[in-house]
Amino acid sequence: MPRIIWDETFSVNEKEIDEQHQKWISIINELHDSLIQGKNLTNITGKSLKSMADYGEFHFRFEEAYMEKQGYEDLENHKIEHEKFREMIKKYVRDEEDGKLILNTEVMKVLMDWLTNHILITDKKYSSPARS
Ligand SMILES: [Fe+2]
Ligand SMILES: [Fe+2]
Repeated sequence: MPRIIWDETFSVNEKEIDEQHQKWISIINELHDSLIQGKNLTNITGKSLKSMADYGEFHFRFEEAYMEKQGYEDLENHKIEHEKFREMIKKYVRDEEDGKLILNTEVMKVLMDWLTNHILITDKKYSSPARS
């Protein structure tokens, strides 16, 4: 499973949001690298999952405010997609705390696929085609 490489296809034509996506991708890639390198994940999994939850939250708030300002018509459906991530990451954090979650390539793939698809499909929808 390769790292996520941000390139122009990920751009939503809004600098600050692109930078936030890049930051989020780097958090996820860091966890991915630790897994691939076979590092002892006991200490870093919980921390990384929490930073993903926190960064996700920060980003969602920013992005939702941005869409609102733009008068984006499909905001409610977009918020539902964000909510799905919140639920998923909350469960991972809880399971990790309970000692029920071991980070493996399967979990990693779910997280990476969610982020990639969300940016490339859902976030792209609010990006102005006139500016792309
Ligand atoms: Fe989004
Ligand atoms: Fe986003």
